[in-house]
Formats: sequence, structure tokens, C-alpha cells
Amino acid sequence: MKNKRTLDKLGRPFTDLRISVTDRCNFRCQYCMPREIFGKDYPFLSRDELLTFEEIARFVHALAPYGLGKVRITGGEPLIRKDVEELVAMLREQGPGLDLAMTTNGSLLPQKAASLKGAGLDRVTISLDSLDDEVFMTMNDVDFPVEKILDGITAAEEHELLPIKINMVVKRGVNEESILPMAEYFRGRGHILRFIEYMDVGSTNAWKMDEVVSAREILERIQAVHPLERIDPNSPSEVAKRWRYRDGKGEIGLIASVTDPFCGSCTRLRLSAPGELYTCLFAHQGFDIKGLLRGGASDQELADFVFSLWARRDDNYSQKRSQSGPSDDGKVEMSYIGG
Ligand code: GTP
Ligand code: 5AD
Ligand code: SF4
Ligand code: SF4
Repeated sequence: MKNKRTLDKLGRPFTDLRISVTDRCNFRCQYCMPREIFGKDYPFLSRDELLTFEEIARFVHALAPYGLGKVRITGGEPLIRKDVEELVAMLREQGPGLDLAMTTNGSLLPQKAASLKGAGLDRVTISLDSLDDEVFMTMNDVDFPVEKILDGITAAEEHELLPIKINMVVKRGVNEESILPMAEYFRGRGHILRFIEYMDVGSTNAWKMDEVVSAREILERIQAVHPLERIDPNSPSEVAKRWRYRDGKGEIGLIASVTDPFCGSCTRLRLSAPGELYTCLFAHQGFDIKGLLRGGASDQELADFVFSLWARRDDNYSQKRSQSGPSDDGKVEMSYIGG
């Protein structure tokens, strides 16, 4: 039997599971679900293809004894999955000490924050790419206004889904002028703004290196006005490098997945909405968990399957990309696998 000490081929332990609960989203961010591709004829998954909440909870239950410390619910947009708070409650039962988080675009938080908290969610990470309506609407491509995301952030605050992190993907020529206004808005508000380098996930966003604004440049732009200093990571596998304002007005994070990849400390597995397990965000192929769950596998058999997969894992896509450039076809979409 493989157990929690199982290391993958690069010596990494498994500690985090990211669960996508839907491949759908009410936004059409150009870097993630460009509307030319994700149009009205796009073959989204049907409900019966999705894992049920019971199946997801069962899977988490099987892995919980083996070093699983963090579960993140993602999508697509997780809050459009009907009654997702029921899943939160079922996951909470798997361990009071489990760090239970959600990455959301925030649009439905005003309605959902209270029930998510009630169900036992610890915290939320909210994506927001600009405070400028024109820029934000161009990026979300559904004319969704900034104000409503700020309402979502307020709702998360009121219901103590803390700490709140704000994710901003930075794209050259699109929202780079929003870096400083975002930093200034969130400074002193107690939330952690994280700047994310635009990545070549999936095969539909036509990624080009010259559209990436490096974490170094982002830092320099902010440093020029508000001095920052490095602080220690919260955990060895944290993807963001932490910096705090020298004047005590809080911290920011820089996620440099392109210019400074963090594969060496990658402890994550991803479960897609239809129940495939991916060992890397950039994987081409997942491993069938739904079949095991529906075929009557025991908890032990599920755990053995996962850890024998983990023992064979040698993924380090971002590291390889920085040496030999991006690979093009066949990568799974981020909206499908969960960011
Ligand atoms: P916490 O540290 O627990 O708050 O979560 P997190 O930062 O892992 O979660 P979040 O969903 O906010 O991730 C932030 C961003 O980091 C994602 O949107 C991705 O852009 C990037 N990221 C997260 N995990 C990976 C990964 O395994 N590989 C790569 N290349 N990028 C990742
Ligand atoms: N590059 C970097 N981050 C991305 N996200 C979605 N697509 C990309 C991309 N191509 C981010 C979202 C969200 C998180 C789940 O992933 O903005 O914050
Ligand atoms: Fe939806 Fe998030 Fe993708 Fe935007 S980045 S389309 S909000 S899943
Ligand atoms: Fe992990 Fe793959 Fe991301 Fe590297 S590219 S950090 S191996 S998910």
C-alpha cells in the first residue's frame, strides 16, 4: 500500500486537491474562455457527466487520511453549480482541519457568501482583473461591471470568508495600466492582491510570450511608488511570492508561473468536473476516477490508485516551457480542469 509519504518522481509529496465542479462560466474572459470558441454551440458537459457531490466527497474521504491538507473548489465558475454549498458541507465533514477554499469570479457572492460560510467554507479567492469598467468588461466579455464584483468582495468580508485573496491576471496592452490602481485600492483593506502572469494554459487563448508582463516588472511598477519587502512563504508549496508594504498597509503576492516556475514544489492534483484526475495543469490527459467510483472501488482501492499514479508523476511543464518554449496542441482547458 502506498501512503501519505509517497513522493512523486521529483520528490514532491501530495497535499492539495483542486476540484472543478463545472466546466461552465457566466464570463467569457478572453484569456480563458474566448467567446469565439466557447459560443452557444460549445459542447459543455451535461449534468449526468458530472461527478455528483456524493462522489466528490467520497473521493476526498478516501484521500483525507494521506496528508491531504487543502481542498480548493474551482470551475469554470463554481458558484453556478446548483447547490454547491451542499458540497462544501459534505467536504467540511471530511475533516475539521482541512483548509477549504474556493476560487470564484465573485459575481454570485452577494447571494452565496452567507450559505457558503454556513456550510463551512473557510475562504475565497476572487478574480478581478481591473477596477476600470471599460477594461474589465473587455476582459470578461459579458459587460459585467466592476461594482458588482466589489459587492461580492464586501459580502465575503461580511461573512468572514477570510483571508480574501484577489487574483489579477495581467496581460500586456490590456490591463497593465490597472496594476497600480489595483494595488492602491486593495492596500490597507486587509485583502491579499495577487498578480498572476498570463499563462499558456489550454489551446484556445492564442498565448504569446510578449503578452506576459513579468512579475519583476509588476513589482517594479508598484515598488516605484510604494516600497515593498519580501516575506516568508506560508507553506513550501505556496505559488505566490509574498511581499509586504513597508508602511504596514498589508501584503501582495506575485505568481510568476511563466518567468519563475514553481514546479519543484508542486503538491497539487486536479479533479475535473467529469471525474478525471490530472497530475498537472498542463496535462493532456486525465485518469478516470468516475469509473472507479461508479464501479464500486473501495476507499483503499481509490487511495492506492491515486498514490500509484502519484509515485509515477514527473510533471514539470512550466519548468520545461521556460527552457524550450510552450507546447501547443492538446492541453486541457483551464475552465475544464480548474485554475
Ligand atoms: P492558496 O495559496 O491556497 O491561496 O491558493 P492558490 O494560490 O494555489 O490558488 P489560486 O486558485 O488562487 O491560484 C492562483 C493562480 O496560480 C492560478 O490561477 C494559476 O494561475 C496559478 N497556479 C495555481 N496552481 C498552479 C499550478 O499548479 N501550476 C501553475 N503553472 N500555475 C498555478
Ligand atoms: N493565465 C493565468 N491565469 C489564468 N486564469 C485563468 N486563465 C488564466 C491564464 N491563461 C486565472 C483566473 C483565476 C484563476 C482560477 O486562474 O483569473 O483567477
Ligand atoms: Fe470564468 Fe474565471 Fe475563466 Fe474568467 S477566468 S472565464 S471568470 S473561469
Ligand atoms: Fe505543477 Fe504542472 Fe503547474 Fe508545474 S506546470 S506547477 S507541475 S501543475
